[in-house]
Amino acid sequence: MNRLKVEFAGLKLKNPVMPAAGPPIKDGSAAVAAAKGGAGAIVTKTISTEAAQVPRQNMAQIKGGFLNTELWAEQSPEHWLEHEYPIVKETGLPIIVGLGYSAEQIEALARKVAPFADALELSTHYLGDDPSPVVAAIKAAKKAVDLPVFVKLSPQIDIKLFATAAQDAGADGLVLINSLGPCLDIDIETGKSFMGSTTGYGWMSGPAILPVALRAVYEAYKHVDIPILGVGGISSGRDAVKMIMAGASAVQVCTAAILEGPGIYGKIAGQIDKFMEERGIESLEEIHGVAHKFQRQEDLQRWEPNISADLCTACGLCAQSCVYHAIEIDEYARVDYDRCVGCGLCITRCKFGAIAPRYND
Ligand SMILES: Cc1cc2nc3c(=O)[nH]c(=O)nc-3n(C[C@H](O)[C@H](O)[C@H](O)COP(=O)(O)O)c2cc1C
Repeated sequence: MNRLKVEFAGLKLKNPVMPAAGPPIKDGSAAVAAAKGGAGAIVTKTISTEAAQVPRQNMAQIKGGFLNTELWAEQSPEHWLEHEYPIVKETGLPIIVGLGYSAEQIEALARKVAPFADALELSTHYLGDDPSPVVAAIKAAKKAVDLPVFVKLSPQIDIKLFATAAQDAGADGLVLINSLGPCLDIDIETGKSFMGSTTGYGWMSGPAILPVALRAVYEAYKHVDIPILGVGGISSGRDAVKMIMAGASAVQVCTAAILEGPGIYGKIAGQIDKFMEERGIESLEEIHGVAHKFQRQEDLQRWEPNISADLCTACGLCAQSCVYHAIEIDEYARVDYDRCVGCGLCITRCKFGAIAPRYND
């Protein structure tokens, strides 16, 4: 039995992990590597009507995350049509072709890429308040081709407004989120930004944006019925499971694939599978959106930390960061419940799973 298989917008995937538009999927050979690395589908690097003039430097690993100012594909659409998409197609996986950015550009490209695509992913990188450019892009694509159309949204917008506008415009799915920004980091040896863009600003991805992405997916799931592909900061099966619990039907990975290589897709899929096997979960549907079922805000008012003497190693990490001085370490960590205010930090600090919430009625 394949616990990981998933179906959405007419696409059938053997597992829910795929590349996100970016350098790990920059051409046909990268798609072949992603397929060999265990991806359940292929998303291709966003192309537009012109090849991008990408500034250098354009990628930097920073504390907790990653900055880029890469733009879209540096090859022309003609090059992709002639050389890259045919190779991508040979992977035999469902292909989601990335297109940007305006309605006019998307209209010009959609029909040309259709023979290679099982679906389109529209990247608008739009940060304004009014969803009409996104709506226009969706309508242009839907008019041009008879394919499922996903629209990728940025996190800085009103998620409810844009998600519902996208659904009303006929989008078959959402992709949340694009990178976050603009952001800045500085090389202290030179005083310069790491990014060669005119502003020196870049766009953040990687672990730092996982909570931003989770919130965006969670918020969109509350308001639309179309499938959501979750992307942003995913580098492990645990991250992917969180995204599926927030409401994603499948997940995309970019930064972790840049840093760790194309084997990451299969690795994450394997970790999701293990998580499910250990808990007797037979299908992704069982965890899809479950974060919405809990009234956690109410639960969290009435809890206290419960320390497992068996699992605790007395490492002292929880006591070190307990600003209420409510934890003491002897042969294992002990909580002074008179001092403990229930902030919850110790649970997330413990590396050994030794602290669990105990809920009180
Ligand atoms: C170097 C780089 C290039 C990217 N290029 C694109 C792109 O062409 N089109 C797009 O929609 N998103 C692009 N993205 C955004 C990613 O697809 C993804 O939405 C974002 O990085 C968050 O996911 P991650 O944390 O897994 O990287 C790019 C990201 C990076 C880091």
